[in-house]
Amino acid sequence: MIDTHAHIYDEGLIKDIDILLTEASQAGVSRIYMPNIDQSSIEALHHLADTYPDQCIPMMGLHPCYVKADYQEQLAVIREQYDDRNYAGVGEVGLDYYWDTTFVKEQKESFAEQISWGQTDQLPIIIHSRDSLDDTIDMIASAQDGSLRGIFHCFNGTIEQAKAALDTGFHLGLGGVITFKNAKLDDMVKYLPDDRIVLETDAPYLTPHPYRGKPNQPKYLNFVAQKIAECKGQDFEEVVQYTTDNAIKLFG
Ligand code: NI
Repeated sequence: MIDTHAHIYDEGLIKDIDILLTEASQAGVSRIYMPNIDQSSIEALHHLADTYPDQCIPMMGLHPCYVKADYQEQLAVIREQYDDRNYAGVGEVGLDYYWDTTFVKEQKESFAEQISWGQTDQLPIIIHSRDSLDDTIDMIASAQDGSLRGIFHCFNGTIEQAKAALDTGFHLGLGGVITFKNAKLDDMVKYLPDDRIVLETDAPYLTPHPYRGKPNQPKYLNFVAQKIAECKGQDFEEVVQYTTDNAIKLFG
C-alpha cells in the first residue's frame, strides 16, 4: 500500500520514527508521501526524506490554515525550496473555512499561486478542502487546462460533489473518516470509480476506527482499504492493488 498523505514529521510521531516506519512496512505500507505545512515544518520533512529516501517522499507547499497576512513571504520561502530539490507534489494547499475565515481572500490567492506551480512544474497538487469543497473544486475546474492533476485529500463530500471533483480529472484520497461510525459515506465510496481512488492516513490526524482517539500512523492504512472493500463489495487485496497502481501512476 501507499500512504499518499501523512505528516510523519509531526513532533508526536517523529520521536519514534524508526518504530513507526518498521511497523508501517510490516503492515504492508511501502511508501509514504509527506505534505508540508508551512515554513517551520520544512526542516523536519527534509530530514526524514534524506534519512529514508525510499520510504518517505517529500512534497512542498503552504497549508491553507497557515495562510496569514504575511503569506507572500511564506510562499517565497516555500517556492525557493524547489530550487534545490525534487518534490513529488505541491501540497498541502487549498482552502480551509472550518478553523478561521479571516484570511479567505489570502487563502484563495495562495491556492491560485500554488496551482500555477503544479502547472509549470507538472506536479500533482494535494488539496485540503475542509468546509470549502465547492470553492476548491471550482478553483481547480477553472484552472484546469488539461495539464493539472492531483488529489482531493480526505475526501468526504456527497456523491454530487464527488462527481464534480472527478470531472476535474483529479483523484480522491480516502482516509480514516470513511471508517467513522457516523460518517455515512458508504454510498459515496461505492460510487467512486476504482481508478480514481488513493489511500491516505493524514497521520497523526483522523485515526480510523477502531483506533479513533489514538494518534494516527501509516500502519493503520489497512483499515481504510478494508472499509473501501466493504463499501464496494470487493476483496481487500483488489483494493490494495488498484489504489497502489493509481498512486504510482499519479506520482510517476
Ligand atoms: Ni494533511
